[in-house]
Amino acid sequence: MAENNQNQGFIGKLLSLPNDNPKKTIIIAILLCLVCSILVSTSAVVLKPLQVANKEADIKKNILAVTGLLTDKGDIDTLFAQFEKKVIDLETGHYADIDAGSYDQRKAAADPTQSIKLMSEQDIAGIGRRAKLASVYLLKEGDTIKQVVLPIHGYGLWSTLYGFMAFDADFNTIGGLQFYAHAETPGLGGEVDNPKWRQQWQGKKAFDESGELKIKVIRGHVDYKVAGAEHQVDGLSGATLTSQGVSNLVNYWLGDHAFGPYLKNMRSAVEK
Ligand SMILES: Cc1cc2nc3c(=O)[nH]c(=O)nc-3n(C[C@H](O)[C@H](O)[C@H](O)COP(=O)(O)O)c2cc1C
Repeated sequence: MAENNQNQGFIGKLLSLPNDNPKKTIIIAILLCLVCSILVSTSAVVLKPLQVANKEADIKKNILAVTGLLTDKGDIDTLFAQFEKKVIDLETGHYADIDAGSYDQRKAAADPTQSIKLMSEQDIAGIGRRAKLASVYLLKEGDTIKQVVLPIHGYGLWSTLYGFMAFDADFNTIGGLQFYAHAETPGLGGEVDNPKWRQQWQGKKAFDESGELKIKVIRGHVDYKVAGAEHQVDGLSGATLTSQGVSNLVNYWLGDHAFGPYLKNMRSAVEK
């Protein structure tokens, strides 16, 4: 009781001080900081599950968008149920026997036991290291694969771009490209999100007849009269560096050190 009176006495005394008193200013500022930090940390903890759920929903939305299945109608989870998530061993290009549902490729890439460090000559996407296993999303009708979606990422000019590339059932024709996270400049590198530019990727062939990886973002506009146009996409004007980054990251992920062996296996299976 006596202590309580003492406390009240302290607060009362503090509040009765003039507002320009330095002691009052400092103590009020400290108390305010304390209350604000409690509020911020409490909301961070309380909102964490919601943030995780939103992030997952965003990934699903982007996978649906890159395969052309995103519509205003229809629940995202229901639409996404058409996909089967699988995990690939990137070295062999075969499916890995692990629980695909709980596999987090971005987490694995940061874990030295689950990832490999890339040599500088391999690392054209500027990612430093990559997970040994990678997720793929198969859009199936019965046992037939209609499309496959591959997660891809790499450095642009200012940021790492994270996205998805969809392939048709021939594992060569590109169904779409979609980035869900980057910090390139809006109006310049940020035009990677422009639907008109993204649309150009649809129908492009990643590989030529001999299986060589050919897809490229060129500087300027594609000349459709020239052979090889089916492997080329226009560069973004005023954003050559981001365009080059996208070209590099696509080439890394479709190349021999990443999804190349998987895509080759799947193309051989289709051709049989
Ligand atoms: C503020 C600012 C932001 C820029 N953002 C980007 C960007 O996001 N991506 C990019 O490739 N170039 C960006 N640039 C331009 C690059 O510095 C460079 O000039 C450009 O990539 C060259 O492309 P161009 O040869 O098509 O003009 C930016 C320039 C400035 C001044």
